[in-house]
Amino acid sequence: MALKRVPAVSDKAWGGVFDAPTDQRVEKFTESVSFDQRLYHHDIVGSIAHAQMLAKVGLLTADECQQIEQGLGEIRQEIEQGSFQYDTALEDIHMHIERALVERLGDVGRKLHTGRSRNDQVSTDMRLWVRESIDRLVDQLTMLQRSFVGRCEQDDGVILPGYTHLQRAQPVLAAHYWLAYCEKLERDKQRLLDCRRRANQLSLGAAAMAGTTLPIDRNDVAERLGFEAIAANSLDVSSDRDFVIEFAFAMTLIAEHLSTWAEEWILWTTREFNFLTLPQAFCTGSSIMPQKINPDVLELIRGKTARVIGNLQALLVLVKGLPLAYNRDLQEDKPRLFDSFDTVAACLDLAAPLVAETELNQAVIADGLEEGFLDATTLMEYLIGRGTPQRTAHHLVGQLVGRAMKQGVRLADLELAAIQEIDSSLDAGVLDVLGAEQSVGAFQSYGSTGPAQVAQQVTTWRKRLGG
Ligand code: ARG
Repeated sequence: MALKRVPAVSDKAWGGVFDAPTDQRVEKFTESVSFDQRLYHHDIVGSIAHAQMLAKVGLLTADECQQIEQGLGEIRQEIEQGSFQYDTALEDIHMHIERALVERLGDVGRKLHTGRSRNDQVSTDMRLWVRESIDRLVDQLTMLQRSFVGRCEQDDGVILPGYTHLQRAQPVLAAHYWLAYCEKLERDKQRLLDCRRRANQLSLGAAAMAGTTLPIDRNDVAERLGFEAIAANSLDVSSDRDFVIEFAFAMTLIAEHLSTWAEEWILWTTREFNFLTLPQAFCTGSSIMPQKINPDVLELIRGKTARVIGNLQALLVLVKGLPLAYNRDLQEDKPRLFDSFDTVAACLDLAAPLVAETELNQAVIADGLEEGFLDATTLMEYLIGRGTPQRTAHHLVGQLVGRAMKQGVRLADLELAAIQEIDSSLDAGVLDVLGAEQSVGAFQSYGSTGPAQVAQQVTTWRKRLGG
């Protein structure tokens, strides 16, 4: 950060009442510009809308408003070109931009803060930032969903063992697996959009905490900034950070979903499973073991979930017990929220190509598919379909599986006579539901792994996601 001259306390925006200068340690301790400078764009957009409203109600002349707009535009350019000078004595991005405006315009610049406080200003900036960040994450989630749907086509017809308790359970189509993640990500999107609605309220005009005696027009500002509603209670909104916490929570669940996926894929890339081969461009090696190709990206996606959860916890604790209206504690919301966003956005950025480019080792999977009695439940349901009570059918198939286990064979390898021992009325038709492929083919219920159901779901997802 390039440093400017240290301003005298009387030079500070709030310096009028002060006799003594601020201790430099206090300036360093209280500053937020090192992390809130990323709000510069939102701050300028908010200030322009505010100035335009002030001109509309007669608190600024048209000429003053025009000067302010132009000045803010130039400041934005300076910031974007990297020539803008920061100074911790000016605390935050809001003070920096205002000071730069005053340096340019003198008294006209001193009018911008009319009917406004940094308390409603910072809330507005954050709401604009949250809105934009949600839109970005929704796009990224859509990209990841597209990767999963793309895989459905690539892995069409492939059957995977499904697990419960991480023990082989029932056969499922690979597409069914991939669409399971699409569902989770869709809920993540809906949660973000729901949070966006509550974030999308205008706080500007609440001023410090009580509103203002000046004849401002909040409807006008809301319209200019695209806010759907206007916060109705100045005391509430000046310290409301629900939208920050909701956003942090929505991002935490995204991180949890990515972590689940990463964990599963880490397992699947082990020599023991060997279901997947990750693209080498997404792996790293070991400094001592020459043979290692490690799934570090997946591990870090899983690992970074910890900080996202930690950020949510920090935010919840931050607001716990704060008295109404603004308290400086609230400044601490930004590093946590920004970190969650940066982390989740980075994870999503890598997840989409990783899902698309990973190879499913179809031959290995097919080779072991008949192990683990994936068809036992289908056989049980076949018996139920012929009138056997469920508990009885469960018991009979259990006995049959026990017998096959002892012989070291699949259910389909048993003699028909052995199967008939559990139900003498069975004929060779029973063989039609044995084996992973026939077993998958027998599923029919809505949302199941049956091929017709899954094909329908793939079509629905493709339509929904477009692109
Ligand atoms: N930097 C502050 C924050 O992020 C801005 C609001 C400061 N308001 C105040 N009255 N000191 O919360």
